[in-house]
Amino acid sequence: MSTHIAAEPGQIAETVLLPGDPLRAEWIATTYLENPVCYTKIRNMLGYTGTYRGQRISVQGTGMGQPSLSIYVHELLAEYGARTLVRVGSCGAMVESVGIRDLVIGLSACTDSSANLLRFQGLDFAPVADFSLARAFVERAESAGVRHHVGQIFSTDAFYMDRPELRDQLTEYGVIAAEMEAAALYTLAAKFGARALAVCTVSDSLVTGEHLPAEERERSFAAMAELTLDAVTG
Ligand code: ADE
Repeated sequence: MSTHIAAEPGQIAETVLLPGDPLRAEWIATTYLENPVCYTKIRNMLGYTGTYRGQRISVQGTGMGQPSLSIYVHELLAEYGARTLVRVGSCGAMVESVGIRDLVIGLSACTDSSANLLRFQGLDFAPVADFSLARAFVERAESAGVRHHVGQIFSTDAFYMDRPELRDQLTEYGVIAAEMEAAALYTLAAKFGARALAVCTVSDSLVTGEHLPAEERERSFAAMAELTLDAVTG
């Protein structure tokens, strides 16, 4: 086992879906995977492996925010040989054209985290998604007729911001949605030569103040999980 994941070597698949909420990891595994086996319950951050259309898939909860996600993703990459990682999360729309219930595919992720400034000693690293994964997901979304947007997202360390005008400036520069994890995911995937993508359902709009009701959150999360499983196994 690693420090935060109780799995034995070989118990985790090369392809891992990453919801923030561990109960969503359990839900994806028990709803879509055949023969799901729970390999970790440390801190209740559940992880499962099963098969989808005959291919091994794991689903690992990451918690909220870049520090928490980084712990799980680092261990998946460094100790369990993960090669394809897809965050399946939620985000807040930052532009009017992105509506609640839509899907956002994060092509790149800017951040207010200082983690990469420290990592690269002030150099401004640009965290980007894997193009082949992004293309596979967009193709599935197009053929399913699901409303989706591809663009730069903002991985913030502060869900409640002191200076939201900084976020407004990012909108002026074309950033389409805010979430809290993708920049760290893309950076770690780059470090380990793996593929990563963040896809998010829009749960709220920072432009209109709308929120998705809980029940609808479930439905749009399910649609995103299905598209993601199709994209990574297709
Ligand atoms: N995740 C979902 N909605 C969000 C928001 N408004 N800001 C940051 N992360 C989010």
